[in-house]
Amino acid sequence: MGRVTKGFLFLSGVLVLIQFIQPAGNISTQAYPADISRIYPMEGKIQGILRTSCYDCHSNNTRYPWYAQIQPGGWWLASHIREGKQELNFNEFGMYSLRRQQSKLKAIGNSIKDGTMPISSYTLVHRNALLTQAEQDLILDWIEKTKDSLSKN
Ligand code: HEC
Repeated sequence: MGRVTKGFLFLSGVLVLIQFIQPAGNISTQAYPADISRIYPMEGKIQGILRTSCYDCHSNNTRYPWYAQIQPGGWWLASHIREGKQELNFNEFGMYSLRRQQSKLKAIGNSIKDGTMPISSYTLVHRNALLTQAEQDLILDWIEKTKDSLSKN
């Protein structure tokens, strides 16, 4: 057997084997009273945008795409969910201190203005998660309003 064939067989074997290592799912059917949309008045439209574009990595419930069934796709997503939730969990937003909520609102605004969120490797596949200019404006306006109401508390 030539080296190329051996290498190919080895890689195929590895690819088959890693399929058996499935990360645990980030799935929950619980209600979240501290969800950001329950804490701060938010148009249904904005809720929808956050759910479509952000909740896969920033909530306790991911809508798993097809590629998550195939490793290393599932691992890739799982690590983003782990890190994303650590930084910001929309389901648990109301449990943060007011100070943390303020700073997270600011960070959300910045991530949208700078176009760093949703992360580009994600929107490559999830085209519907890309924010249009109108959607960005809607969220940024909402953040401004909400930030003001927070500082009065
Ligand atoms: C594919 C997963 C994924 C999606 C979808 C996603 N994020 Fe993130 N997000 C992450 C990860 C991972 C981090 C932590 C690492 C980093 O900052 O890049 C993060 C970090 C952040 C932070 C930084 C928090 C801080 O305090 O600095 C903000 C804000 C944020 N995301 C907002 C959003 C918003 C708003 C959306 C939707 C428009 C979104 N993200 C969509 C994965 C994601």
